Amino acid sequence: MMKKLIINNKESKYPIIQGGMGIGISLSRLSIASIKAGIVGTISAAQPGFLSKKFKSDTLNSNLEALAREIKTVRDECPDGILGVNVMYAGTNYDEYIKFLSKQEIDFIVSGAGLPVDLPKYLKGSSVKPAVIVSSGKAAKIICKKWMRSFNVLPEFVVVEGPLAGGHLGFSKEEIESGDYKSLETLLEEVLIEVRKVEEEYKVSIPVIPAGGISTGEDVARYIEMGSAGVQVATRFIATEECDVSDAYKQKIVNAREEDVIFVPSPVGLPGRAIRNAFTDALKTKNQKIKYCVDCLRVCAKKDIPYCITEKLGNASGGDAENGLVFSGAKAYMIDRISTVKEIVEELISECKYCFE
Ligand SMILES: Cc1cc2nc3c(=O)[nH]c(=O)nc-3n(C[C@H](O)[C@H](O)[C@H](O)COP(=O)(O)O)c2cc1C
Repeated sequence: MMKKLIINNKESKYPIIQGGMGIGISLSRLSIASIKAGIVGTISAAQPGFLSKKFKSDTLNSNLEALAREIKTVRDECPDGILGVNVMYAGTNYDEYIKFLSKQEIDFIVSGAGLPVDLPKYLKGSSVKPAVIVSSGKAAKIICKKWMRSFNVLPEFVVVEGPLAGGHLGFSKEEIESGDYKSLETLLEEVLIEVRKVEEEYKVSIPVIPAGGISTGEDVARYIEMGSAGVQVATRFIATEECDVSDAYKQKIVNAREEDVIFVPSPVGLPGRAIRNAFTDALKTKNQKIKYCVDCLRVCAKKDIPYCITEKLGNASGGDAENGLVFSGAKAYMIDRISTVKEIVEELISECKYCFE
């Protein structure tokens, strides 16, 4: 049976969240298409002002202005859809983003890339709900305990991100290299056990949403059968007409073969998953010169780093998919054409329904 996904008292037609993707990949165009297709839209707060003239001199305000603009664009078209913003906990000025977003017309803020222990602090009195991305049952337990104790709030939903996801992974280089990491199924079971305990104790319902490598309706059906309230999908939505990223980036995803999807080191210290290109080949022999720094991540060492992540993601996003960083999920190789968000959603849902018949 297809479950209902309810976020901020709104019911999504289909239980799918379009995952947040930075830099400049999931902005208003992708969110509008997602909401119109009957799923939940997520704008990424990772440097959305990258193309602004004052980005390098006034990064924070360029990003906040861009966020306000993107949110308004979605709301003008989709006043009632479920819309959220993904803000990485590892980013600088995290508090400033949350304070600003607490006053915007969005339904939720979802944070991963670290444990967002104080996310609800700035949402008191706001209609914006806090949600979290975790990669273990332990992290889900800590967040529920901490948020309840400090803010009397529980997550609006919990995303469980597994090892096949795109972008930065919640697993160390050693874990990835040795293959010593848990599958999304195992992680989902762990998180469901922890969340069920919280639901029983407080008599609430917290949707648990797996993410990472979900690319068919059969995947969706499997996770729903396991007890999730829906799924989060990101990579599949890159190769769509509506995705905000450059055509060159989309084409890189379409052309990727299985062996082109590789791990790359990142200034954050955690491995990332990306499509092999001239940039990743060059990285094997030498670090890339850092041209500027907008102090994007609290966790960046800034010295002796392989490259600047904002510069390289921004370059790829803007159209230089050979010399920039093309983040992608593990299943990018299964994508062989540019389609539309609606086509993908309809395909996932009809395949999923078929599995339940
Ligand atoms: C290109 C790309 C960029 C991403 N950027 C972010 C981000 O800025 N913040 C974040 O929390 N997750 C980010 N993610 C993770 C996605 O939101 C999502 O949870 C994950 O990729 C799901 O797996 P899938 O891509 O296999 O569907 C990114 C993923 C991709 C593919």
